[in-house]
Amino acid sequence: MKKLDGKVAIITGAAMGMGAATAELFAQNGAKVVVADFNEPLGREQVSKINAAGGTAAFVYVDVSNAEDVEKMVQFTVETYGRLDVAVNNAARTPDDKPLAEMNEDVMHQLLAVDLKGVALCLKYEIMQMLKQDTGGSIINISSVSGIRPQPRNPMYIAAKHGVIGLTKSASIDYADKGIRINSVAPGAVKTPMLMQALEHFGFDPVAYAKQLSMLGRFAEASEIAEASMWLASDEASYITGAVLNVDGGYTSM
Ligand SMILES: NC(=O)c1ccc[n+]([C@@H]2O[C@H](COP(=O)([O-])OP(=O)(O)OC[C@H]3O[C@@H](n4cnc5c(N)ncnc54)[C@H](O)[C@@H]3O)[C@@H](O)[C@H]2O)c1
Repeated sequence: MKKLDGKVAIITGAAMGMGAATAELFAQNGAKVVVADFNEPLGREQVSKINAAGGTAAFVYVDVSNAEDVEKMVQFTVETYGRLDVAVNNAARTPDDKPLAEMNEDVMHQLLAVDLKGVALCLKYEIMQMLKQDTGGSIINISSVSGIRPQPRNPMYIAAKHGVIGLTKSASIDYADKGIRINSVAPGAVKTPMLMQALEHFGFDPVAYAKQLSMLGRFAEASEIAEASMWLASDEASYITGAVLNVDGGYTSM
């Protein structure tokens, strides 16, 4: 018996990076996976890769900041695989790069629309479906160490990631009695396109920076974050809700 046998899972932002690694790991462990992303070509490539490896996956277009898209993402999941048991709300924009006094209002708006409202919208429609089924479920919201112990110069990203933890705790209280467990994973620095772009942008040396950002002296692999989400999604984490799991090589304790 695999850890996620029989479960149907949505993973947002699964065209690349951590979401893609999570979709692969979930499929390897028996889940039927919906790869939800606004990057259609890469999302479809990811689905082909999973299906070619013997998994079960389908693609749906979603911009998580758009309520209609998010509602359709859940509808597509139910039409394709019959139900929804697990969701990993992972999609987010690359962090901003200026302190508040220099910030442009468009950046404020876009970051909050995707990284915070996007998670709230996904929670709303996922929970509605889980309530309809009345069989519980597990939802994992991807926050960040920036939601706990921030670095300088990402005010809106930091605010959004603190907000993701707030949304997680709030929703976990409201739906615990319906058997819906809602948790957050807070990754440290993970080797994905998002991190590599940020390092290049700020001119940081990856080797030196990895030592500052982890007791283990290296960046995480995307698969190491996916493992944490899989455990929270599985029945092995049946007594865990409202929690924040730091997967950060010790960064928040340094
Ligand atoms: N990489 C890191 O070091 C790191 C650290 C902590 C937290 N995180 C968080 O982990 C998650 C995944 O990050 P990543 O590094 O894999 O990012 P990434 O940029 O490599 O991938 C993000 C994915 O989300 C998709 N996406 C972006 N906006 C979207 C939208 N509006 N609607 C639908 N899809 C959208 C992109 O197309 C892409 O596939 C994010 O929530 C990020 O904030 C990343």
